[in-house]
Amino acid sequence: MNGSAIAATGLRKSYKDKVVLDGIDLDVRAGTIFALLGPNGAGKTTTVNVLSTLVTPDAGTVVVAGHDVSTETRAVRAAIGVTGQFAAVDDLLTGQENLLMMADLLHRPKAEGRRVVAGLLDRFELTEAAAKPASTYSGGMRRKLDLAMTLVGQPKIIFLDEPTTGLDPRSRRTMWEIIRELVADGTTIFLTTQYLDEADQLADRIAVLDHGRLVAEGTAAELKRRVPGSHIRLRFADRHELDVAAQALPGSTRDDDDLTLRVPGDGGVRSLRALLDRLDARSIDVEDLSVHTPDLDDVFLALTGGPK
Ligand SMILES: Nc1ncnc2c1ncn2[C@@H]1O[C@H](COP(=O)(O)OP(=O)(O)OP(=O)(O)O)[C@@H](O)[C@H]1O
Ligand SMILES: [Mg+2]
Repeated sequence: MNGSAIAATGLRKSYKDKVVLDGIDLDVRAGTIFALLGPNGAGKTTTVNVLSTLVTPDAGTVVVAGHDVSTETRAVRAAIGVTGQFAAVDDLLTGQENLLMMADLLHRPKAEGRRVVAGLLDRFELTEAAAKPASTYSGGMRRKLDLAMTLVGQPKIIFLDEPTTGLDPRSRRTMWEIIRELVADGTTIFLTTQYLDEADQLADRIAVLDHGRLVAEGTAAELKRRVPGSHIRLRFADRHELDVAAQALPGSTRDDDDLTLRVPGDGGVRSLRALLDRLDARSIDVEDLSVHTPDLDDVFLALTGGPK
């Protein structure tokens, strides 16, 4: 499947008089990871629920895997898997039984179901715990089991609502690796997260949701360039070079001890090239150059949490 995996336009959803989604447009390319970022209550889970057919929007259209969510709900459900903020794991069953139950629900032939389940237990390093009740699993094991249950159906598109919330750093990394493997196999991932480094690490594109509206969308690099604080740091061999450079670059801040110049800019390639051209034209030699961009935390704080 090439092209669009998830396309939404004009999504609206209110509960009573509370507007939760206030006109959302999304386009997720097949075979990519899309991250929806936002503070608590921004509407992330609601968006996932609408895109995955669990909640009907008041307005707007959603096409998932080429099917309209409102008129071809079954076809959409057959193509997707959803791993929610609260795991669908049955505590009374063992890990293996949970997975076999999924295989049964999906009408997989018994032998094939057993084979798929064994493969998933192995892949998620749950083989040892397979015969123990899920109630004895750690948070990380539950998350893995939950995702494994989603994969029994071999969905082309997977929704992950906060897949790593509450996991320790090692378990988070394991989860990231699994997500990357899925995408390498051609799966599309739509994930929500409150961890900016997670979006930074995983996502091809990121959208920031606040008060039910998308306040920004782009690659991590594009988003970082949107907030002020980007600058280029230049270091020179001696005071003379620094003097000439400072004159050539009005608006820059000099540090005479370090022989450095801080030049504000958007951190993009084009402005960097223009800067180097200016220095070149004056035959100024640069000893060292580094580009500093704000991190996603800066972006998140700048874009979200303001008054409605
Ligand atoms: N079924 C519902 N009935 C009434 N209000 C709801 C319902 N579902 C969600 N809401 C409200 O919609 C808003 C957005 O909720 P949602 O769960 O989508 O946010 P979220 O971004 O996933 O938050 P979190 O980061 O805490 O998971 C909240 O104010 C919530 O109270
Ligand atoms: Mg949520």
